[in-house]
Amino acid sequence: MSTERTILVTGGAGFIGANFIRHRLATVPGERIVILDALTYAGNRANLDGCDAARIEFIHGDIRDTALVEMLLRDHRIATIVHFAAESHVDRSITGPDAFLDANVIGTHSLLKAARSVWLAGSGLPHRFQHVSTDEVYGSLGPTDPPFAESHPYQPNSPYSASKAASDHLVRAYHHTFHLDVTTTNCSNNYGPYQFPEKLIPLMLVNCLHGKPLPIYGDGMNVRDWLHVDDHCRGVSLALDKGRVGEVYNIGGENERPNIEIVQKITAAIDAAFASDTTLAVRFPNSPASQGKPCWSLVTYVKDRPGHDRRYAIDPRKAQSELGYRPHETFESGLAKTVAWYLANESWWRAVMDGSYRNWIETNYGAR
Ligand code: NAD
Ligand code: TYD
Repeated sequence: MSTERTILVTGGAGFIGANFIRHRLATVPGERIVILDALTYAGNRANLDGCDAARIEFIHGDIRDTALVEMLLRDHRIATIVHFAAESHVDRSITGPDAFLDANVIGTHSLLKAARSVWLAGSGLPHRFQHVSTDEVYGSLGPTDPPFAESHPYQPNSPYSASKAASDHLVRAYHHTFHLDVTTTNCSNNYGPYQFPEKLIPLMLVNCLHGKPLPIYGDGMNVRDWLHVDDHCRGVSLALDKGRVGEVYNIGGENERPNIEIVQKITAAIDAAFASDTTLAVRFPNSPASQGKPCWSLVTYVKDRPGHDRRYAIDPRKAQSELGYRPHETFESGLAKTVAWYLANESWWRAVMDGSYRNWIETNYGAR
């Protein structure tokens, strides 16, 4: 597909947004992308390094600034918003919920207001608001419950998932009441390049390299349905280009795993990397793997997360049948690529972990 259009991507300096921009630049020739990002602790301009500067424009700003969003839509003749910007980490939503209400609820509403005023004025322009959300809005599954279909009731349990649920409802309401053309995708846990090392997979990877404890919440048997970020981006793109207006699509890889298995696979991958590349022991002398010892020895069971959801799982059949969605990565191939990326991009994760993240984690959990 080739296009001359310009789209607005919010949160494009974050983990999934930056991967989505790379995906669109590679797959939609000619498309230009205006990126609106407030550069919170989770947003990083370096996540966009190497992207074709002629096709992207970065705007440092807040989605709550409705006048700014209206101006961008008008000035760049934008009729498509892909909305990733959010506060996204459950643990932070427990220690400080207000920021989640501000960004996820007020922020999403601000975008909807801007889209309505610019796109629906007069006779109305063809347009699309693609809202990116999470499976966490559906709550927690029992061990034998079927995976989340789009019709599953909303039962959010954390301030993060409650704020995302509220944003999903606002998107739905703007479609129903004002006829804004929307699609929503609800995806399972992502992993891959540029993920901030506070989420399970990159945190465990980086702690293995530093020789720091690997904190397992509770019994480590909470189950998540893991999807490589490229496959999520492919799903969002399909929903944007082929999704039916007003519809919701659940995106996942049918890849349920308990946390402890994820950590076991990461530690084994790091052990194997050190065994085959002797320079790693020089670069990361504090890792047990540098002494030929297993990184698994770093596993430490810690107090459980309050309200910790037990199991998430996605039923992706609607996205498969309507959008032709299929993940390309297996968990094994995706994890191997991710481990290789973090080993090759030490300067990236060291830089993003400096500063506010360290302060937050030490204030709330003590030094890890
Ligand atoms: P992230 O935390 O890595 O990035 C969020 C980005 O949004 C950052 O660049 C940040 O600077 C920006 N941002 C935050 N508040 C803003 C504001 N008020 N104005 C402008 N920009 C702002 O998040 P992520 O993991 O990339 O998640 C992106 C989206 O995908 C979120 O909506 C999240 O709920 C959803 N999602 C994430 C996952 C996952 O596993 N990470 C899974 C399903 C859905
Ligand atoms: P996380 O990456 O925070 O994603 P989410 O809470 O949105 O699913 O956590 C994934 C799982 O890993 C979740 O069950 C909590 C658990 N976890 C730990 O056991 N230890 C940790 O240090 C972190 C960050 C998460």
